[in-house]
Amino acid sequence: MPTYLITGGAGFIGGHLVARLLLDPQVQVTVVDDLSTGDCANLPQDPRVTLLVHDVCDAAFMAELLDRERFDYVVLLAAVADVAATCLDPLGTAAVNQWANLTLLDALRRRPWPLGKLFFASSAAVYGDCTGTALSETGPVAPQSPYAVDKYASERAVLNAGRLCGLPVVCGRLFNVYGPTAAQTLGGGGVITRAARQLAAGSAFTRHGDGEQTRDFVYVEDVAAVIAALLHGPATGLVVNIGTGRASSLNRVLGGLAQALAQPLALRPGVARPGDVRHSQADVARLAALGLRCQTPLVQGLAAVAQAAPVALVPTP
Ligand SMILES: NC(=O)c1ccc[n+]([C@@H]2O[C@H](COP(=O)([O-])OP(=O)(O)OC[C@H]3O[C@@H](n4cnc5c(N)ncnc54)[C@H](O)[C@@H]3O)[C@@H](O)[C@H]2O)c1
Repeated sequence: MPTYLITGGAGFIGGHLVARLLLDPQVQVTVVDDLSTGDCANLPQDPRVTLLVHDVCDAAFMAELLDRERFDYVVLLAAVADVAATCLDPLGTAAVNQWANLTLLDALRRRPWPLGKLFFASSAAVYGDCTGTALSETGPVAPQSPYAVDKYASERAVLNAGRLCGLPVVCGRLFNVYGPTAAQTLGGGGVITRAARQLAAGSAFTRHGDGEQTRDFVYVEDVAAVIAALLHGPATGLVVNIGTGRASSLNRVLGGLAQALAQPLALRPGVARPGDVRHSQADVARLAALGLRCQTPLVQGLAAVAQAAPVALVPTP
């Protein structure tokens, strides 16, 4: 019976990943999440899922848990995923975004049982304002926020643990993940979820900049499927972009969303955010070489978000 530890598993991506893993009737999933941005409602109600509401920064707790449970697979999703929050509190957020990963790797390094795979959720943010048509894992990085620096440092630490301690590891550089969220929580879903909630509520959405900035928007269920495939596949000791390989402008996405919601597109002009990159698009050659693809068309993904939006009406800043 395969056992999984997922830190941050009650978040946006975590909830979808847990649902994906439960397709195997034999699995047991343990989630450690302090519910700071996550929510129990993101997790399937299933006896095979155990939620431990705890801080991953508690090294003794995590070491004891790993010792007791001897998980086959470990997925590191727990993070302060709000880039602005990491700029305001670089030290405090590094405790979660970097140090908690290091302490967990240290505990795993000393484990006496074979680990199937460790997956670390890194981010396209590590590329910063690198230019070029598509961002490749073999190209330069330029992390420009504490969030991106912590992700890049954790990536390197994970890869080093793989190389030096024989841990089977994979880092996924996630691009802009979007999709329906079950919970009315702070975290997850990004600009598309915020826009969907506001447009569905009949309010105007604040668009920062001219809207012609592009992102590689990747559907959350595709991301969950890719993470599951990487956990179970032979790939190890590498970084993989998780994106579609296509870039869409914010204007295109907002237009598509308004159409899916059958709402007028009401926009409030906002100043461009300092440090926002202009274009971001994944080179997915490595992902494809592993036989993997994020293929949900944007219109289909936006329709799913629009369908979920009315149940998630909360005031958003
Ligand atoms: N959503 C995206 O577009 C995107 C893009 C790139 C990378 N990522 C990464 O993927 C991961 C999941 O992101 P998400 O979008 O689901 O965000 P999320 O905020 O919904 O999930 C993060 C989870 O971590 C938990 N958490 C935070 N601090 C914790 C702590 N100290 N102890 C225990 N749990 C803690 C939160 O409660 C939450 O459930 C994060 O590592 C994020 O940086 C996300």
